[in-house]
Amino acid sequence: MPDPIRFYYRGALREVRDARPTQTILQHLREDLHCTGTKEGCAEGDCGACTVVIGSLEDGQLALKAVNACIQFTPTLDGKALFTVEDLQAPGGELHPVQQALVECHGSQCGFCTPGFAMSLWGMYLKQEGRAPSRCQIDDALSGNLCRCTGYRPIIDAARRMTELAPVAFDRAALAGRLQALQRAHGLTYEAQGGRFHAPRTLDELVRLRSAFPDALVLAGSTDVGLWVTKHMRELNDIIYIGQVDALRRVEEGADSLEIGAGVTLEDAYNAICRHYPLELGALRQRFASLPIRQAGTLGGNVANGSPIGDSMPWLIALGARVILRGFEGERALALEDFYLGYQKKDLRPGEFVRAVQVPLPRAGLRFRTYKLAKRFDQDISAVCAAFAVTLDGATVLDARIAYGGMAATPKRAAAAEAALRGQPFDEAVLRAAMAALARDYAPLSDMRASSAYRMQAAQNLLRRFWLETRVDDPLPASAVNAFAAG
Ligand SMILES: Cc1cc2nc3c(=O)[nH]c(=O)nc-3n(C[C@H](O)[C@H](O)[C@H](O)COP(=O)(O)OP(=O)(O)OC[C@H]3O[C@@H](n4cnc5c(N)ncnc54)[C@H](O)[C@@H]3O)c2cc1C
Ligand code: FES
Ligand code: FES
Repeated sequence: MPDPIRFYYRGALREVRDARPTQTILQHLREDLHCTGTKEGCAEGDCGACTVVIGSLEDGQLALKAVNACIQFTPTLDGKALFTVEDLQAPGGELHPVQQALVECHGSQCGFCTPGFAMSLWGMYLKQEGRAPSRCQIDDALSGNLCRCTGYRPIIDAARRMTELAPVAFDRAALAGRLQALQRAHGLTYEAQGGRFHAPRTLDELVRLRSAFPDALVLAGSTDVGLWVTKHMRELNDIIYIGQVDALRRVEEGADSLEIGAGVTLEDAYNAICRHYPLELGALRQRFASLPIRQAGTLGGNVANGSPIGDSMPWLIALGARVILRGFEGERALALEDFYLGYQKKDLRPGEFVRAVQVPLPRAGLRFRTYKLAKRFDQDISAVCAAFAVTLDGATVLDARIAYGGMAATPKRAAAAEAALRGQPFDEAVLRAAMAALARDYAPLSDMRASSAYRMQAAQNLLRRFWLETRVDDPLPASAVNAFAAG
């Protein structure tokens, strides 16, 4: 007998038995529950009109995160609590400080985007616990919301104003208790309308399911897969969701590497890595998609999807990261660059999945940077993404690892440029030779994001920028580098 999907919404426990497994949370809200406050703008995670907050237990701890309902599937709600704009107003009709601030600051005109902004603001309100947010925190919280009317300034004013109003408490302990009581001893098996959705809770269960259903799709944060359904109209009939496996949601710190479980969100993964590489990765973290995408998507999904324009692979490859693959016969580890065999082709055997990514920690002599070039600051896909990791012994290059996204069919190392640097002094003449060598490493495509010539020029210039920032004799002062990092 298949299980129902069980989750809390508007104070009540809901059970869903007949929604197709790829029905989105947005569709469920609007079409089945007739709660139409949450809007559909783009149906691809870009505009934020559908933003909701999801409460869940992660290793027993309550987490409340704003995500895009348009690309999350309804069965992923099992064991969680869903909050929408309908939840904000008090039973007596008083507006929540988030809503009151939007009214007072004229943060809404046509109103279409407003429920999404309200939920992103509420997500931040909960996180801030009464503290006034900084402009940087506000920008980050709103990075996934578009408004065509207000010009944003009134909404930013509202974000500041909301913590000045009389606070409204949120009972975290009560929610955590209710969610605890909802947790299953074993994973969810849900079936409806010819589709199956498995949500195992342990690594062993996941291994067994992968082996029993090797053709089933592995689903993590759904920020790529969701679009296959909403935009490409793909039918996905067999899904194994890894978002309930606690063992995959851990970050383990070893002596010389961080091991990031495949279920760790991009937000948590980047925060953990940025503690070790704050200057080097801080700007990329901020420019990777938007907060709701980073709170849903995983680093494991970024790596497993392996898009040639994905942002994590260049710096992971440059640092020498390894991907840990788990299958029925055990585990194997690969250098990340060896995982990519060709366009959308990976060294993943039937029944295998990505269990973790191991990221080396800073070491003596390492100079490391990564840069993203895209048309918009927030929420945009890279035209070129570059990463450079050079290990110096005094003024001599001991080792050089360079990788680019957007320059080839896979995230790819620049072997010729690396060879031009290795063993040489880290000076301008050598740098220019390495820049020229990039033309032997890549023959980039022209597409809507950039022409081939632009990509090559940008790739060469980014290598020069790296050298300017890290050169031995006269590096750019930290303040200039930080100005770059802040965008
Ligand atoms: C609006 C928007 C903005 C975006 N911006 C960026 C950006 O700036 N930079 C960027 O790089 N990407 C971006 N993306 C893409 C996406 O967010 C990332 O690729 C994300 O890391 C995917 O992770 P996920 O957990 O959502 O993967 P999912 O969508 O769940 O899965 C993606 C693929 O990986 C496979 N997979 C997932 N986990 C595993 C596993 N453990 N083992 C084996 N296979 C697995 C799935 O089967 C699927 O093929 C954006 C997406 C959207 C919608
Ligand atoms: S509808 Fe645009 S992000 Fe969901
Ligand atoms: S108020 Fe009209 S889109 Fe934002």
